[in-house]
Amino acid sequence: MGHGNVASRKEGEFSMRLQQKTVVITGGANGIGAVTATIFGQHGANIAIADFDEKAGEAKVQALQAADVNAAFFKVDVSKNDDVKEMASQVLAKFGKVDVLLNNAGITKDAMTLKMKPEDFQQVIDVNLTGVFNCTQAFLPSMVAQGKGRIINTSSISGTGGNVGQANYAASKAGIIGMTKTWAKEFGRKGVTVNAVAPGFIATEMIKTVPDHVLERIVSMISVQKLGQPEDIANAYLFLASDEAGFVNGTVLEVDGGMLK
Ligand code: CAA
Ligand code: NAI
Repeated sequence: MGHGNVASRKEGEFSMRLQQKTVVITGGANGIGAVTATIFGQHGANIAIADFDEKAGEAKVQALQAADVNAAFFKVDVSKNDDVKEMASQVLAKFGKVDVLLNNAGITKDAMTLKMKPEDFQQVIDVNLTGVFNCTQAFLPSMVAQGKGRIINTSSISGTGGNVGQANYAASKAGIIGMTKTWAKEFGRKGVTVNAVAPGFIATEMIKTVPDHVLERIVSMISVQKLGQPEDIANAYLFLASDEAGFVNGTVLEVDGGMLK
């Protein structure tokens, strides 16, 4: 999706809710993550895009820089622990600190359970669940050392309620909720809060695999009768990243237009 038009950051144009904060956005090259990078940049954040899509990631960083945002791209496969450790040390070397980790990277490999290939089950768990663990473990020590930090994890309506054809994905996204609540308990006393956003169906590349007849059925189940936009999720991330959310910890913010079921 083309999100190249980043509004320039002029004084007074936006309230700077993330001024001088450094934010790592996994999966920030495309979709929800890319729109979040734009909005967070407008709020004064320094942005580290951590993604394995080098082409889109570099283009995103160029667009951010053109709008005076301090941004850099780091190529990483979040499912690979060594890759992630290397990425984290590069990000910390470049920016000196990380205030917010947004664990947003994710994939789908949908199939009805009886047709699902074991390797497709495993790959989705590796990226969506182990990837969140890897990134969190890599950035937590620096957050604990500075006595503050924010971690925001991306779950899904499929994780809170299950979804036909998504046993792998729903398991990964439900697992993220378990880790979110655990980390909130483990790290709250260290000044690090951990929350999740559970988006409903959002108009990005990810939903393009959904057959038309299924998508029609899904939209009819959304109370507001339309798909969400990436901005809807970016604004929920913004709230959780902001100073105003300092007492919010271990919660799952559902942003799905209200599902009728
Ligand atoms: N909700 C309700 N019913 C669904 C459904 C869904 N999400 N997905 C499939 N079904 C139904 C189909 O309508 C069909 O029902 P009927 O037999 O009554 O027609 C039945 O399940 C089997 O589906 P298919 O005939 O399409 O079977 P298939 O084996 O050819 O394909 C599938 C199965 C790959 C799961 C395909 O149906 C599909 O891609 N479904 C969409 C799955 C989905 O919702 N993915 C969400 C992607 S977006 C995302 O993941 C973001 C997020 O966090 C929400
Ligand atoms: P997208 O497919 O547009 O973007 C995902 C990004 O993650 C891409 O830039 C991709 O390169 C990156 N990525 C994938 N695997 C990676 C890996 N192993 N390492 C590093 N980067 C990787 O998807 P979208 O829609 O923007 O999704 C963002 C998050 O929101 C995902 O976690 C997704 O599961 C979640 N979500 C999306 C919903 C939707 O309807 N679009 C609904 C609910 C949750």
